[in-house]
Amino acid sequence: MEFRFEPNQQRLSDAQRADILAAPGFGQYFTDHMVTVDWTADLDGQAKAFEAGEYLKMVGDWSDARVEPYGPLAMSPAAAVLHYAQEIFEGLKAYRHEDGSIWTFRPYSNASRMNRSAHRMAMPQLPEDVFVKALEELMAQDGAWVPNGEGQSLYLRPFMIATEEFLGVRPARNFNFHVIASPAGNYFGGEPKPVSIWVSRDFARAGEGGTGSAKFGGNYAASLAGQLQGASRGHDQVIFLDRSPDDSLEELGGMNVFFVTKDNKLMTPRLTGTILEGITRDSILQLGAEQGLEVEERHITFDEWKDGVASGDIQEVFACGTAAVITPIGRVADGEEIYDTPSEDFPVANALLKRLVGIQTGAEEDTYGWMHRLA
Ligand code: COI
Repeated sequence: MEFRFEPNQQRLSDAQRADILAAPGFGQYFTDHMVTVDWTADLDGQAKAFEAGEYLKMVGDWSDARVEPYGPLAMSPAAAVLHYAQEIFEGLKAYRHEDGSIWTFRPYSNASRMNRSAHRMAMPQLPEDVFVKALEELMAQDGAWVPNGEGQSLYLRPFMIATEEFLGVRPARNFNFHVIASPAGNYFGGEPKPVSIWVSRDFARAGEGGTGSAKFGGNYAASLAGQLQGASRGHDQVIFLDRSPDDSLEELGGMNVFFVTKDNKLMTPRLTGTILEGITRDSILQLGAEQGLEVEERHITFDEWKDGVASGDIQEVFACGTAAVITPIGRVADGEEIYDTPSEDFPVANALLKRLVGIQTGAEEDTYGWMHRLA
């Protein structure tokens, strides 16, 4: 698919951009351009697929791929996304290597996860090569926005929305795929430091058969009440439990969680369909094995967390995700009960962080073939 280019005549000056890149924060500033690709249903093709039993097959065509000025989207107030939330997204980052080239991390994994999310939300599949080309085309124009400071990158946010003007509840017949980009430093703001986690007892994020494993905006909306409850008590993030009698761990508001035991086990909750299949999570499992840790994906209860940190069997706890990278968790609060993580310097989390970021920034050899050059 060819992309056309429509330049942004009002792009920021080099000096304005440099000011932003000096302290980008997270998700506050956006580059000069965005990608848009339109999708229109082929109603005959869809009817045939439906009759053949392929009821989730969205038959149609992607067209008019373009890199255009970043700016407000024009859409009908009746657009389906505004009412029934047919919206999915991805998150990945662009890194500047020492020679000035721009790379991203496992983009085909994001592309295939977006298609799994699309399948769950009755949205169209986007060919993986179009997903990756969209990132390349955006970086060909906005590469100057990729910062090179320590811990900095350009966060890439692909997303797909239902744009059809129609209020009946059925899959929309028009969608747009977009990519926007935003320079990023530490997700939690300021210098990296261990974060504090609140256990959500009043609110669930997802349930069996629901949308928990899709990267779907509604899951993040569902996390906000728990997140705010925790924030009101001074915590940075929230952990959701599966609400079974044994309170097994799911994920944080927008990150997966890991534990390091004193006998060098690296553990994370297994994928149950109710938590996000994190690409950083999967990479950490591979890097953990590389570093000689015994990796385990399994059912982990909140009691194991609190008893483990109290006894010292669990030494380190950390959050991970594209935005959070690897962020140590210093404490967890279950109501009034506070459990501190024994480790103060998080050696295992830091070694994993160094290796992961080393691969991403080109400082270490990419022995996995994870990196993809964008520009
Ligand atoms: C990401 O890590 O890319 C996410 O989508 C999570 C969100 C907290 C920004």
